[in-house]
Amino acid sequence: MYDFTKVVDRSHTNSVKWQGTDNELPLSIADMEFAVAPEIVKAMHTKLTTPYFGYEYVPLAFFQAISEWYQTQHQTQISTAWMLFCNGVVPALSSMIRRLSQPGDQVVVQTPVYDIFFHSIENNGRHVLESPLSYDPHQAHYSIDWADLEAKLAQPLSKIMLLCNPHNPIGRVWSRVELQNIIQLCQQYHVWLISDEIHGDLVLGQPAYTPVAALPPALLTNVAACISPSKTFNLAALHSACVIVPDPDLRATISRGFNNDELAEPNLLAVPATIAAYQQGQTWLQELLQVLTANRQQVTAWLNQLPVNLQLASANATYLLWFDVSSMTANAQELATFIKQQTGLILNAGNVYRGNGAHFLRLNSACPPAMLKQALSRFQTGLINFVPSKNH
Ligand SMILES: Cc1ncc(COP(=O)(O)O)c(C=O)c1O
Repeated sequence: MYDFTKVVDRSHTNSVKWQGTDNELPLSIADMEFAVAPEIVKAMHTKLTTPYFGYEYVPLAFFQAISEWYQTQHQTQISTAWMLFCNGVVPALSSMIRRLSQPGDQVVVQTPVYDIFFHSIENNGRHVLESPLSYDPHQAHYSIDWADLEAKLAQPLSKIMLLCNPHNPIGRVWSRVELQNIIQLCQQYHVWLISDEIHGDLVLGQPAYTPVAALPPALLTNVAACISPSKTFNLAALHSACVIVPDPDLRATISRGFNNDELAEPNLLAVPATIAAYQQGQTWLQELLQVLTANRQQVTAWLNQLPVNLQLASANATYLLWFDVSSMTANAQELATFIKQQTGLILNAGNVYRGNGAHFLRLNSACPPAMLKQALSRFQTGLINFVPSKNH
């Protein structure tokens, strides 16, 4: 049994999330308020007992640990030969965008989506081409607008599609059939598919996560998938990620990009911690998923007694909860700012994720139940006292 109940003060630890003032409670940026599994910490300690920290290569054992994890956790066989090390998923995305497209090209994304996608695209001089997800407010459910997606992929300047599976912030996995359809469309229009699967292990029950690498070989000619222990095991500052590229030519191109961008070498803890996570982290993850499920139940019970009308639009993936606040405001940023000022609770306003994100707030539920309870109480106070401005 691991302890997922302890509340620890993370201010003054260089935490980006906790750099605010004393009364603030940030349930925002996607890292967790849980201690890393002791098995992983032990592996890091062991590494430090031999203090010779020269340049390192990534050993085969690193890729084998990932391959075995995918076999046991996701029943997916992934050859270690398909894998490249990269020191982060976002660095990998930016590098692949630079290698696989030209300035001025378009990158297709399904909005609302992880806002850093926009930075990776636009900071490299490419254009974001949104294919907004369809939203059914009655079911609080998102789906793909296939006609729109095809039209966007068919545009001559569309060179890459960035897929998020499971999708942050809407908390959905894409089904095998949906993935096949997306890839077939990408193949038809000669678009590279980059699939960000960093949240793949954080799925509660069914439907399960389908890695793109699990699809038939004929569908894997234009695909690169990004994974990392950073979300699953709360190791964001470890800077360890892996990009899976089945096609050898595409892999060579991407590998050159990583080398060129100096992203292909690990820091001293990346290899031992990643291997320990994938080899010994299974029980910790199982317990984490139980805690996240219970936290979700706490949120559902809270919603049921809430005097205002809020809907949870998250499906069963990620610990990021996506609240439809459209009954209260058309500008979630205004509501988030109000809640922060009134109560100190920090949530992400959905505006930054584009699409229909301005009708949503995102709450990071990966925290001890007591902290969540405190956050929901503050959330409720903010909601009850909120009066939207006349402009919205
Ligand atoms: C979809 C997605 N991709 C990538 C990242 C960050 O990846 P990394 O820290 O490896 O750059 C996040 C973090 O929240 C994310 O949600």
